[in-house]
Amino acid sequence: MASDIDAEALSKLQRHTPKKYRDKLTTVAFNLNGDFPLKDGSFNGIFCTGILHLFSRPVLEKISKEMLRILKPGGRLILEFPTEIKRIGRDGSLITFGDEPNYSIADARSYLQELVGSSSTQGIIEEVVEDFPNANPPFTFHSKIILLECFKTTGNEDKDRLIVTSMGKRTQVLT
Ligand SMILES: C[S@@+](CC[C@H](N)C(=O)[O-])C[C@H]1O[C@@H](n2cnc3c(N)ncnc32)[C@H](O)[C@@H]1O
Repeated sequence: MASDIDAEALSKLQRHTPKKYRDKLTTVAFNLNGDFPLKDGSFNGIFCTGILHLFSRPVLEKISKEMLRILKPGGRLILEFPTEIKRIGRDGSLITFGDEPNYSIADARSYLQELVGSSSTQGIIEEVVEDFPNANPPFTFHSKIILLECFKTTGNEDKDRLIVTSMGKRTQVLT
């Protein structure tokens, strides 16, 4: 299942998904800044890219709670969080988009640390440079992207120990 606030973006995804996977793909359009229209404990995993960095800290906290609500105990969470974003125009000028918070690595780490708990990893940091020649105006995107993988705990210490042992890092259940 894929989600985005923009139904047209989801239609595009459907069109671009290879035929052999398309029948398995469902899409649900909704605003992440609200209650997700999805059942408790209904997902084995969440892969979240290109979006969390757009929200303020209080909104991120609400989103985290919703992500953990819909994950099954032991479910996997893979997050991608771009930090220190610079969009550089062809004339060398800095291009900014609206009121994007543009987190520092330290601030993003502090949010992710709260989400995943003290037992978790700090993630991998990857420096990314990508050209967007068709944007208006065209720019080169520079970012240090944090990649993080963790697992939802059950709240039961014995079972959690098994999850941590068998799967690596764990996520605390936020209440
Ligand atoms: C940079 S694109 C990333 C798209 C895709 N997740 C990816 O990684 O390729 C940001 C996406 O966030 C979506 N978006 C923006 N605000 C949103 C919101 N409040 N709730 C859900 N999606 C949102 C936009 O429609 C856009 O498709």
